Amino acid sequence: MPDGQVRHDAAKARVDALAVVAQHHGVELDRKALRVSPGEVPSPAALVTWAREGGLWAKATRLRWRHLIRMQSDAPVVLLFSDGGAGVLVSRDANAGTIYLRDPSRPGEEPVAIDELRLANVWHGDVLLLRRERGTSADEEPFSFSWMMGRVLEERRNLREIAAASISLSVLQIVPPFLIMVAIDRVITHQAMATLGMISLILILITAYDTLLGYARREIIEVTATRIDARLGMHVFRRLLALPMDFFERHPTGETARKVGQIFNIRSFFTGKLVSTFLDVFTLIALLPFLFWMSATLAWMVLVASALVALVVFAFLPAIRQVFARLVIAENRKNSVLVETVYGMRTVKSLAIEKVRNEEWDARVAEAGQARLDAGRISNVAQTIVSPIEAFINRGVLLVGCYILIASPPGSTAITGGALIAFLMLGARVASPLIGLAKLMQDIEEVRLSVSEVADVLNHPTEAAAMRTGLRPKFDGAIAFQDLTFTYPGSSVPALDRISFEVPAGTMLGLVGRSGSGKSTIARLLQGINREYSGYLKIDGTDLREINLTHLRSSFGVVMQDNFLFRGTVRDNIIASRPGLTLEHAVQAARLAGAEEFIERLPRGYETWLEETSSNLSGGQRQRLAIARALVSDPRLMILDEATSALDPESEALVNANLLRIAKGRTMIIVSHRLSSLVDCDQILILDKGKVVDIGPHEEVLDRCAVYRQLWQQQHRHLEGGRPRPLKSATTRE
Ligand SMILES: Nc1ncnc2c1ncn2[C@@H]1O[C@H](COP(=O)(O)OP(=O)(O)OP(=O)(O)O)[C@@H](O)[C@H]1O
Ligand SMILES: [Mg+2]
Repeated sequence: MPDGQVRHDAAKARVDALAVVAQHHGVELDRKALRVSPGEVPSPAALVTWAREGGLWAKATRLRWRHLIRMQSDAPVVLLFSDGGAGVLVSRDANAGTIYLRDPSRPGEEPVAIDELRLANVWHGDVLLLRRERGTSADEEPFSFSWMMGRVLEERRNLREIAAASISLSVLQIVPPFLIMVAIDRVITHQAMATLGMISLILILITAYDTLLGYARREIIEVTATRIDARLGMHVFRRLLALPMDFFERHPTGETARKVGQIFNIRSFFTGKLVSTFLDVFTLIALLPFLFWMSATLAWMVLVASALVALVVFAFLPAIRQVFARLVIAENRKNSVLVETVYGMRTVKSLAIEKVRNEEWDARVAEAGQARLDAGRISNVAQTIVSPIEAFINRGVLLVGCYILIASPPGSTAITGGALIAFLMLGARVASPLIGLAKLMQDIEEVRLSVSEVADVLNHPTEAAAMRTGLRPKFDGAIAFQDLTFTYPGSSVPALDRISFEVPAGTMLGLVGRSGSGKSTIARLLQGINREYSGYLKIDGTDLREINLTHLRSSFGVVMQDNFLFRGTVRDNIIASRPGLTLEHAVQAARLAGAEEFIERLPRGYETWLEETSSNLSGGQRQRLAIARALVSDPRLMILDEATSALDPESEALVNANLLRIAKGRTMIIVSHRLSSLVDCDQILILDKGKVVDIGPHEEVLDRCAVYRQLWQQQHRHLEGGRPRPLKSATTRE
């Protein structure tokens, strides 16, 4: 056997083995999703990634024979052989010292018994362990306050270090005031030089320790925050991508982007304010006994004053909550105007509505400004009420302390001058955590709002499950609609009303109907963009809802009226859906789409860089690129939804001429307002207000369907019957 063949068999054995075990756990792995170059044996890491993306728990590890034979679980294990092949361990007999291996490429055969010695010839310990993902993973749990807390607590180890450093720092804070008390009371009164030296030394040491520890704490906080940020960022983007299309259609882009951005406010609260306030509470607990030891009267005064501050903050909470909710709404509106305007700048300019947009913006700015001012004013009032109480904690305590000092008979232990100063130094430290705790309530309000905003986006039901599970049949391409009714959410009239028709595999269907008759809706249902219909939609007899979404969508080549091209080269754009493909594939697809001719005339051919809005291409060129992009994966099913309406007559004729070639071996659904481009279709389906009016070949429906005849005559008034040439000028809609 040639070497390449051996490698191929081995690779297949590994893939088969994993697929078999995945099936055992109820997961169908998508073979196309395995990222490995052709002819290469997939590495354990690549296999693990493949299984995890398919929704399994997977781990590559090394085991010894004695572990293998004593494993508690009954689940099959993939053994990776040293020659690149694989086997599936299905059962074991510890007493006899044998395991039973199944050959993944011969699923029908009985497993064979193998002992330690024979296995050692081919296996050196590499295994893949798979099981079902337990419970809901963090990816699927709803986003909430406690979910966020869970993500922060994943950094438990770092948080513990931060807490330890903070506690030592707060305990250390007690020492300097204490030493200063000693310095004032003893050193000054007794002129004790030696004690002063001692105190200085201790203070220097503590300062050094304090500085280093502070550095370490900030470093760990930075690292922890970055890790949480990165993990959150990845998570949020994954969820965003899993949201169904209709979510993005029904929510303004600017609002969605802003809401999702709130997650970083929430993160900074969790790693910043929340952590530091809780750590301050440690300081409080460490300090309070000291304060009471120095002077119970003064300590009570500080406590009562702090409690007063907390009360004031609490009293303002409801008002603040209200005004913040208003602020958030106003900011949302403002942001939507900004994003919409930037996004639709071409239209803004061509309609010359800069002034109108500007007025809209000014109004939103004013609204947001007012809300912000109101919020600021309320906190200002609260701040103003609080500030004399805070001043009392600092200065009032000094005065009362002095009074106690003077009024108490000499020699009494009420309080010393040094203790008074030490008390003042520490008192402020007690007040701030207490006040901080109250302010934390206010921050929690804000964060709660942010959480609900993020949840608004992220907790929308995703398609993740449908993208991972479901059948992945190899399509032949027969499509059947059976008594299907579909109404868009929020609409009262059905967009498709009890429609039934069939498209045999490999044929072309033309879709005709007035604007709004439901043509694009049929295309959307076929791609699984909307799935809440009644009746049946089947591909090759399989209910569409049972088909894996990713598989379904990648089996369709879709070209719409306007298509988004990504930043990158022409070649990258054509092969966007299959990153493994080469230039050769791109050239072939471009030729079929009638795009080759203009690409070759571009300054750098297939390597020409396309800008974000692909402004360096004409509409027709963009369209042909989109057709090439849809064709590159050689899909069995194709939908062209007014794909040629933006083309000039010449490029349209070019694409139409290729249409029959493009259609070879595919099921095609072509939506077009230009009926002349549909005459070659095997069937033409006429829709009106979501209902099927007629279906049949051109000549037939022209004969018997009044709606079709009328549309046809509108477009071909200048011709007296017969088959028309492609039209010279763009026909108007309807
Ligand atoms: N995303 C949507 N949300 C709600 N209603 C929609 C949505 N898209 C289309 N509709 C409604 O469904 C009906 C059918 O629309 P559809 O886009 O299928 O028409 P169409 O035949 O493709 O029209 P056109 O020829 O103008 O493209 C219309 O009445 C439209 O208002
Ligand atoms: Mg449409």
